[in-house]
Amino acid sequence: MGFVIATVNMKGGVGKTTLTINLATCLANNHGKRVLVVDLDAQISATLSLMPPHEFAKVRREKRTLGQLIYKEIKPNSKSKVTIQDVIKPYTCNVEGLDLLPGDIDLYDEYLVSEMLHKKALNEGGRTFSQVWNRFEELLIRSILDPILDDYDFIVLDCAPGYNLLTRSGIVASDFYLLPARPEPLSLVGIQLLERRISKLRESHDSEQILNLRLLGIVFILSGSPLMGRYYKQVMQRVTQDFSAAQLFENRIPMDVNVAKAFDSFMPVVLANPGTAGAKAFMKLTEEFLQKVDNFPPSQPA
Ligand SMILES: Nc1ncnc2c1ncn2[C@@H]1O[C@H](COP(=O)(O)OP(=O)(O)O)[C@@H](O)[C@H]1O
Ligand SMILES: [Mg+2]
Repeated sequence: MGFVIATVNMKGGVGKTTLTINLATCLANNHGKRVLVVDLDAQISATLSLMPPHEFAKVRREKRTLGQLIYKEIKPNSKSKVTIQDVIKPYTCNVEGLDLLPGDIDLYDEYLVSEMLHKKALNEGGRTFSQVWNRFEELLIRSILDPILDDYDFIVLDCAPGYNLLTRSGIVASDFYLLPARPEPLSLVGIQLLERRISKLRESHDSEQILNLRLLGIVFILSGSPLMGRYYKQVMQRVTQDFSAAQLFENRIPMDVNVAKAFDSFMPVVLANPGTAGAKAFMKLTEEFLQKVDNFPPSQPA
């Protein structure tokens, strides 16, 4: 069975999506891995980075997005027959082994979820609303992915910023999480906040899966400004005090306008412009990623 990996940071604009799509593409294209990208963010950046808008419009019209799969979990009695296999788009960007589970601008309705769980808590008795909620959160993404878990070496979840239901459910369903961050003091505070939230998740979700969740590493996405040079060194000194070497990726991603421009060609920079500094950095990072996954001690049985 492969690994589920969540790309998370409560901050937006730190490079989560860019890391997700380039890592996933390199794993498939350069290493022959079977990879699925799951877009858990209603801003659908990962989806639109991997498929042209007209194609997305079509899958949305046909209700072949993650939105439909979530709807089925929220309304188990719905008549929808759509399966995850119907929704997954293979050969993304013409790369063998690179699949996409397209996201949606409407992923779920908080009100519907609360109503459904409230009824469930009343019907089941014995369990409090928060226990019912936690159980739902624990199973939502895991149940959606369950039928295809064995089909992939890696399933990478592109999480939304903040800390919404899908981010939490995605983290709980994962074996590892990847943390892209900027080398700035506020970003470091953000890392610690996320770590604290994840330990809370471990307390509230007493499942075997979350006991196995581990930080694969923090990936620094550098700032492009040369003025940041000295300051950057100071911040990185703090980083090495606060985190162990095993928690950090040695490879860092430079700012490179080609990374952002690749969006216009509906494919990641590692395909659109593989000779550029940004693309090369993602390729080296992918090698380090594979080494880290290989070298991780097996998770402890619960
Ligand atoms: N290494 C990089 N070089 C240049 N631009 C980048 C780089 N990484 C990300 N960006 C750009 O920064 C913006 C935010 O990145 P994104 O991956 O969408 O962040 P997030 O998913 O955390 O919100 C995007 O416009 C993206 O193209
Ligand atoms: Mg994003």
